[in-house]
Amino acid sequence: MTVKKCLFPVAGLGTRFLPVTKEIAKEMLPLVNRPIISYGVEEALASGCEDIVMITGRAKRSIENYFDRSFELEDMLRKRGKLELYYKMIRISEMAEIMYIRQREPLGLGHAVLCGEPVCKGEYFGVILPDDVFINDDDPVLSQLIKVHERLGGSVIALEHVEDRDVSRYGIASGEEIEPGVFRINDMVEKPKLADAPSRYAIMGRYVLSPEIFPLLHNQQTGAGGEYQLTDAIRELAKSEPVWGVAYRGRRFDCGTQKGWLSANIQLALEDDELRDMVLDILKKD
Ligand code: G1P
Repeated sequence: MTVKKCLFPVAGLGTRFLPVTKEIAKEMLPLVNRPIISYGVEEALASGCEDIVMITGRAKRSIENYFDRSFELEDMLRKRGKLELYYKMIRISEMAEIMYIRQREPLGLGHAVLCGEPVCKGEYFGVILPDDVFINDDDPVLSQLIKVHERLGGSVIALEHVEDRDVSRYGIASGEEIEPGVFRINDMVEKPKLADAPSRYAIMGRYVLSPEIFPLLHNQQTGAGGEYQLTDAIRELAKSEPVWGVAYRGRRFDCGTQKGWLSANIQLALEDDELRDMVLDILKKD
């Protein structure tokens, strides 16, 4: 059985980007020339997922509109002969089957995933946190996780070795390395103090989860930050089913902070053949 559905928790309020996120979904902020969310959606599709399930909130209409048809705009582009742009707009709306489920209250990542239960019940599913943008043209990170799931069964999380100073920003997981870069997870702590961290391996925003996560999320208590934490439910899951951690291959851009988002824009623009010289020129002027 492979993984056909992918959840995108996108109901977060984006407080780190205020005031811009007062009206705009943070997932719609541009990363070079398209919204952050489109990178995650393309990764899910390139990894073999067919259904995209957005767990969304009231301020996130722009995400729905972005992936929908825009007849007025299309009509205008066609009449003005801008056919290349016209077809580009159509392609965006035909990119994927997207479902939207409202998370009525921002109660945490565990709660957001639980909102996907009506659609994902009974099957393994992917989760992408779109703030973490991964670039790996050879093999997308979600696809690396799905391959481990297909080979070994069970749930899979993406891991990255982080510096001591960053440990308290992430969920931290530990386990036994059963083959190079693959760990059988036996402990996970959400945003621990350095002294309480079970390892230096941080969970990055990609998961393949067993449907058995849902009963655990139903019975969950609040954890770090007073929120229902996905990390806590996966730790429980690991007591009854295998959970694998994969030290992923690829580059990650943390678009969840202003600094990370700005630096991702600059780095990726410098790698774009059409933009590189212009960006270098701008940077030289300072
Ligand atoms: C979430 C998860 C955390 C994970 C992180 C990765 O935290 O709860 O375990 O390490 O994403 O980006 P958040 O960044 O939503 O606070």
